[in-house]
Amino acid sequence: MAFLAPFLLGSSVTSNASSPGIFDLSASQWTLSNPALDINIPASFPSYAHLDLYANQVIGNPEYGLNDFNLRWIWKQNWTYTTTLASLSTRYDQTFLLFQGLDTFTTIELCGQHVSYTNNQFRQYYFNVTDVLAHCQRPLTLSLNFGSAPQIAENIANQPGQTDWPTAVKGLFEIPHREFMRKEQNDFGWDWGPAFAPAGPWQPGFVVQLNREQQVHPRNVLVDIYRQGQRNNLIPDQGQPWVLNASIDYIGEHINDPSLHFVLRDAMNQTVVDGALVNITSVPGTITGSNTLPSDSVDLWWPVGMGPQTLYWLTVGVRDTKNNTIASVTRRVGFRTIVLNGLPVLDGEIATGVAPGNHWHFEINGHAFFAKGSNFIPPDVFWPRVTPQRIRSLFDAVVAGNQNMLRVWSSGAYSPDFMFEVADEMGILLWSEFEFGDTLYPVDEDFLENVYEEAVYQVRRVNHHPSLAYWAGGNELENLELPTAKKAAPGDYPRILAEYEKLFLSTLFPAVFENSRSISYAPSSTSNGFITLNFTDAPYMQQRYNNLEPGHIYGETDYYHYDSSVAFNNSAYPVGRFSNEFGYHSMPSLQTWQEYALPPGGLNTTNYRNTSKGMAEMTAAAQRWYPRPEKSNSMANFSAWCWTTQVFQADYYGAQIQFYRRGSGLPQRTLGSLYWQLEDQWAAPTWAGIDRAGRWKILHYRAKDLYSNVIISPFWNATTRELDLWVTSDLWSEVRGTVNAKWYTWDGEEVDLGGSNLRGQEVTVGPLNTTKVLSTMLNANASDLVMKAEVEVTGKMPNSDDTALFQHTNWFHTAPLSQAKLVDPGLQLTHSDTSRVFTIAATSGISAWTWLDTPAGAVVVFDDNGFWLGKGETKKLIYRVIQDDTDGEWVKNVTIQSLWNSTLAD
Ligand SMILES: *[C@@H]1O[C@H](CO)[C@@H](O)[C@H](O)[C@H]1NC(C)=O
Ligand SMILES: *[C@@H]1O[C@H](CO)[C@@H](O)[C@H](O)[C@H]1NC(C)=O
Ligand SMILES: *[C@@H]1O[C@H](CO)[C@@H](O)[C@H](O)[C@H]1NC(C)=O
Ligand SMILES: *[C@@H]1O[C@H](CO)[C@@H](O)[C@H](O)[C@H]1NC(C)=O
Ligand SMILES: *[C@@H]1O[C@H](CO)[C@@H](O)[C@H](O)[C@H]1NC(C)=O
Ligand SMILES: *[C@@H]1O[C@H](CO)[C@@H](O)[C@H](O)[C@H]1NC(C)=O
Ligand SMILES: *[C@@H]1O[C@H](CO)[C@@H](O)[C@H](O)[C@H]1NC(C)=O
Ligand SMILES: *[C@@H]1O[C@H](CO)[C@@H](O)[C@H](O)[C@H]1NC(C)=O
Repeated sequence: MAFLAPFLLGSSVTSNASSPGIFDLSASQWTLSNPALDINIPASFPSYAHLDLYANQVIGNPEYGLNDFNLRWIWKQNWTYTTTLASLSTRYDQTFLLFQGLDTFTTIELCGQHVSYTNNQFRQYYFNVTDVLAHCQRPLTLSLNFGSAPQIAENIANQPGQTDWPTAVKGLFEIPHREFMRKEQNDFGWDWGPAFAPAGPWQPGFVVQLNREQQVHPRNVLVDIYRQGQRNNLIPDQGQPWVLNASIDYIGEHINDPSLHFVLRDAMNQTVVDGALVNITSVPGTITGSNTLPSDSVDLWWPVGMGPQTLYWLTVGVRDTKNNTIASVTRRVGFRTIVLNGLPVLDGEIATGVAPGNHWHFEINGHAFFAKGSNFIPPDVFWPRVTPQRIRSLFDAVVAGNQNMLRVWSSGAYSPDFMFEVADEMGILLWSEFEFGDTLYPVDEDFLENVYEEAVYQVRRVNHHPSLAYWAGGNELENLELPTAKKAAPGDYPRILAEYEKLFLSTLFPAVFENSRSISYAPSSTSNGFITLNFTDAPYMQQRYNNLEPGHIYGETDYYHYDSSVAFNNSAYPVGRFSNEFGYHSMPSLQTWQEYALPPGGLNTTNYRNTSKGMAEMTAAAQRWYPRPEKSNSMANFSAWCWTTQVFQADYYGAQIQFYRRGSGLPQRTLGSLYWQLEDQWAAPTWAGIDRAGRWKILHYRAKDLYSNVIISPFWNATTRELDLWVTSDLWSEVRGTVNAKWYTWDGEEVDLGGSNLRGQEVTVGPLNTTKVLSTMLNANASDLVMKAEVEVTGKMPNSDDTALFQHTNWFHTAPLSQAKLVDPGLQLTHSDTSRVFTIAATSGISAWTWLDTPAGAVVVFDDNGFWLGKGETKKLIYRVIQDDTDGEWVKNVTIQSLWNSTLAD
């Protein structure tokens, strides 16, 4: 499917004799200059100063080595983007500049005359420059001067009377005062990324020319599709017809008495339904209308794994009183309801075993489902480099990883339309957030007005995408910022809480519900949810905060614990309705380090303050739980350490994913597991499952396995020595089949542990439920043994009538692998050039965390990796080549290893 940028769609159809004149500023020749540094170089548009300096070899790769420190001089400067506009057409009587994104503090001049000053990276800006042009001397020079964001944020912070907060709540990473600017918050550093604070025109821009008479340019479009009567955060009635509400924001003179006509076409462009929209309102700059569609006139859109991703093309035309179409817009839409159910648990539900409190889960088209996924961070430190192809490649990994939801973390940037387009097609739900996180924010009138405009623009821009699942106000505010503020400044807390509600409840929530009835909102990820909801009276949601009743369960959980001694202690994990963040960092592979950060001689830095803490945590975890690599070759040793930190990460996340998934059938009815974090934006030790080069860490493979529909999971209590086995299913109907559990020595000899074995035992698991299949006490004899547990059931995928087979295998050991009597599993690896398959066999023992390693120069994804093999077992792996600079030679240099290799000196 082609990617249609909204501005192109917006201007694609006009039936007038003379169309508006649209000139794309990317077609102009730009220069980037800084007179103080005597820099004057060709530039791109859209772009950032860093990218143009790099393209012109003024600087090296910003991501390489320690360049995040070396290049700080760039963000201390002003940078000017300049172009000469080709002569503009004289056929029009009005001219506008339209910018989709300027980052951030921008002084705009045309022919040396001041046009405007902007201060929000996330707003669309347009300026009527008709009068400026009338007084222009040629050439028509357009200049955009970007001030130093760190400097300007500091100036704002230092203004007399400016708000301040206790230091503890001002989440500081590298550059201070990010709370005073509406710019990507992680541009000032985060614990997984560098601080480049880039400046530039990061999104497209246009010159728009119009005639006064009935000529307009659509600049943004809202499409809201919902069930009649639906309101945000409330359960829609699936028996109601659809309401189609369309609202067009345009540049141009007010249109008198317009009408709106729509055509809905299916994927093959066959008209499904067309007609007029009714209840038209026309205010300067915006026309709105709606109509109802019978439920059965369209097919539903479903997330991946739950049904088809049916999409339609909606075209809305604006007509004047003579029935001439004066503007037309097209958006690809889908019909679905998605709601965050945060309502109280009813008595009837409590009677079925649900713990009292409030729900906190998503329902798609009236069905509760288990959200399996991860957290998405900005995939590049410079957004103009993020292409639809890169997002598609990343989202391929999401779908291949059995994930159906991404939490697009706030404090980065609002997702581009092409990202939603790919998600719409692939069925990935995007939990979206306003860009606030890990600090408190000012609430003066200017700031709130700026935020409101930003939010309204973004809500309207993306609402038509069926993959849009939710809006949250920001990251870790209720669970982290508010309690920290209360502790640090108890006297100020009432003011701080009131300010928080002013921004996140009284400003952002109306920006959502005034524009969309289809999307739920909550002020914070993570949150204990609301007590009451009322759309007529501020603050609209009465939040629960910590008004918790014992024995009741509310809200989401966010869990990090860096004492690895309790990593596998199930009783340490939070019991909640939904897990939206959890994790532990690991190293990227040696190959990725080599590409980004290992100059000959190593890095020369004394900046170890944060590094030493994180390194210590990874090292402690690795050697506590797995064999400690002590290889004679230092590079091989470094590589083995990197790999072992990944084994721990995969193992630890795996334990939690299984805990949250089992929770779907326990009183907490947990219905989500989104680990931190999907991918990286640079090569560094981070929480990512996919590193900067696109290599899957072991985590992404382990999560893929445990996000299968049906899984079998061991739960071990080291104190009581009780082992339980559970089978968990996220399917929407019952599954039936058998389970097996057998014990082995590391040599692969089967040992009969009597009642601790299962042989073909029958199992039934209900919809979105879990069944305990074994509960046994293990004595010390089991310490040197390994259990292989298998489940095989039949059932049906959601919205499918076909019976399908679901199988899962899992391995369990009581003793930490650091103490296990590992043996040489005798791994053998063969590759077939004709079938493009690798075959791995374990010939002499059990192989733990079996790993195919690909050489530098190639990025390859296998359908499984990091798996276990029993003695005598073989496994065939197919693969997908993401990148290959080796001319296919990489296949000859793939190596196979397992945890046993960590016990060897070379
Ligand atoms: C840099 O930009 C800021 C704000 O955009 C402006 O106030 C200042 O005058 C500029 N400085 C220079 C040297 O252009
Ligand atoms: C743009 O500016 C011109 C000149 O001041 C004015 O005549 C025109 O009405 C303006 N257009 C809009 C849409 O405000
Ligand atoms: C349907 O129309 C859209 C928008 O005009 C176009 O991008 C798409 O390729 C068309 N699809 C087919 C199947 O012709
Ligand atoms: C139009 O507005 C009327 C009055 O508010 C309402 O009853 C009706 O449902 C609306 N029709 C549509 C299609 O929105
Ligand atoms: C406007 O044109 C459409 C077809 O393009 C037609 O169906 C409709 O009746 C016309 N309306 C008026 C008021 O003429
Ligand atoms: C919402 O607030 C309004 C105004 O205070 C009040 O009249 C109404 O009863 C409230 N509705 C609910 C459901 O609490
Ligand atoms: C082990 O069981 C005991 C007794 O039921 C319980 O108190 C403890 O929390 C359990 N520990 C784990 C790790 O589950
Ligand atoms: C390492 O950096 C320090 C401080 O910047 C510098 O003085 C020293 O010469 C550097 N050493 C090497 C080997 O480059």
